[in-house]
Amino acid sequence: MKTIGIIGAGQLGLMLTEEAHRLGLRTVCLDPSAEAPAFAVADEAIVAAYDDAAALEELCRRSDAVTYEFENVPGEVLVPLVERYNIPQGFRPLYDSQDRLREKTNAREHGLLTPGFEAVDDETSLRAAVGRLGLPAVLKTRTLGYDGHGQRVLRSEEDIEAALPLLSVPCILEQFVPFDFEASIVMVSDGERVVSFPVGRNIHRDGILDLCVVPAEVDPEILARMRRESERFMRACGYRGILAIEYFVRGGEIYFNEMAPRPHNSGHYTIEGATTNQYRELARYLAGMPLEEPRLVAPTVMKNILGQDLEAAREVAAEGRQGVYVHLYGKRESRPKRKMGHITFVGMTAREYEAAWASRFVE
Ligand SMILES: Nc1ncnc2c1ncn2[C@@H]1O[C@H](COP(=O)(O)OP(=O)(O)O)[C@@H](O)[C@H]1O
Ligand SMILES: [Mg+2]
Repeated sequence: MKTIGIIGAGQLGLMLTEEAHRLGLRTVCLDPSAEAPAFAVADEAIVAAYDDAAALEELCRRSDAVTYEFENVPGEVLVPLVERYNIPQGFRPLYDSQDRLREKTNAREHGLLTPGFEAVDDETSLRAAVGRLGLPAVLKTRTLGYDGHGQRVLRSEEDIEAALPLLSVPCILEQFVPFDFEASIVMVSDGERVVSFPVGRNIHRDGILDLCVVPAEVDPEILARMRRESERFMRACGYRGILAIEYFVRGGEIYFNEMAPRPHNSGHYTIEGATTNQYRELARYLAGMPLEEPRLVAPTVMKNILGQDLEAAREVAAEGRQGVYVHLYGKRESRPKRKMGHITFVGMTAREYEAAWASRFVE
């Protein structure tokens, strides 16, 4: 029986473990928190920091193939392990995505369109960048940002003043894209074939994903182009395993926003909404099984459940409605804005969701 090692034991590790089990695989997860969700289902647990070289080595020793659901594993500890153990995605896609400046530069160099951007390190370089890129713009920390943390939209002189404290760490200034919509794609590659999941249209609230709607219900030509360009990008970069890319679409233009070499929140819908899902295909890749091309089962809406929606989600679960799949991650502590679960509505359009379900959750 093969064992998959997972760096991180959050909800992504939880769902990856569940799919690994369905394929007859075992998992061992490493996470600094003994209460992390995936430990409830993983076959083995290692509680240790992400930069604990000895613990990561132990994870590798116990695994036939290792992957990561956590993006900020330092290269100093991962690179030596990549040379000695089977970490088939390697360090490169993590390295390319850990720093927003490097990430956008890499996207551009491999043929994708990005919003204008510049590195900024202090007030002088910020003001010079604002002069060239114009306002509105978005100031983001180059590393460690997630769910809208570590970024501010700048629309005025007052916003610039208020954003200066962010510059205590290296930042990037990006042009603000007044997008028509946001979308994302998840792909899995074995180095030869690339399979991609149907593009989702993403609706964020306070910088956090709220809904993912599939099919995206937008111009199919744009979606086809997004898929072609994404697959070409993944091949051009030589990435293997899983890659998710977030885009902004404005008119006929598709702007790369960011990428992640791990399962993606927007891809949760694939578990019930598609014939195979992002976790299953990643597990198949890691276990050396042939990849399977996904198909959408029916129109699907995925709703993220944050702390403030947990009670409502429990009620929805108890109703046991057809096509409504409630996932709760079992996190001990619930907080507003913390991802506690998600609900997948299979056989539902965005309009039907808005009419029948949206009011059940906190505005
Ligand atoms: N340049 C931009 N123009 C317009 N909206 C943006 C821009 N950058 C970020 N946003 C908004 O903020 C959200 C979070 O930003 P993102 O760069 O994806 O960081 P995170 O790592 O927090 O997901 C995006 O999904 C989008 O809604
Ligand atoms: Mg994002």
